[in-house]
Amino acid sequence: MNVLVTYASKHGSTAQIADVIRNDLRMAGFDVALQPADEVTNIDEYDAVILGSAIYVGQWQQAVTDLINRFAETLKTKQVWLFSSGPIGDDPFPKEMPPITEELIEKTGAVEHQSFLGKLDRSTLGFGERLITTVLRAPEGDFRDWDAIRAWADYIGRTLRESSVRSAASTD
Ligand SMILES: Cc1cc2nc3c(=O)[nH]c(=O)nc-3n(C[C@H](O)[C@H](O)[C@H](O)COP(=O)(O)O)c2cc1C
Repeated sequence: MNVLVTYASKHGSTAQIADVIRNDLRMAGFDVALQPADEVTNIDEYDAVILGSAIYVGQWQQAVTDLINRFAETLKTKQVWLFSSGPIGDDPFPKEMPPITEELIEKTGAVEHQSFLGKLDRSTLGFGERLITTVLRAPEGDFRDWDAIRAWADYIGRTLRESSVRSAASTD
């Protein structure tokens, strides 16, 4: 079973989440490709696609929304999972998901969307980003929950395996 993990990440932390998901699915026995969303030119060969984006100012990154718009019809024929990384802090901020998340689930026919805590390192930010995070008093630190991320990868692996057993049984 071929799986694509694709993502959009501005400062690298979402890319690292995607990489961990890719590695865990590989270890579970799947053929998994990892590609930034703006480099994906074809998804025909994949049975399942996992799409992730960092959230900035209430928006998914354009590379991922563009990919979804380009391949919306094809994505509907595959098993799709969405994840975003964004909220930060021990009392995660912001609380609400961007409204576009529901729309993207519908467009892709995704099994589900999962939100993961992100990372904020002020030293990597540009002037405008630093200003926004200062005004919003956004907490700094790496809040990514690797156990939660790996549990989600494990759940996807189990779901894919069950669906391939079911489709093999139905063709017998
Ligand atoms: C300028 C700025 C705006 C942000 N806006 C949001 C937001 O609206 N919602 C959210 O959940 N996270 C927001 N974040 C947090 C980022 O999504 C988080 O830091 C994420 O882990 C960054 O991922 P990346 O390293 O892959 O770019 C913002 C971060 C910055 C620097």
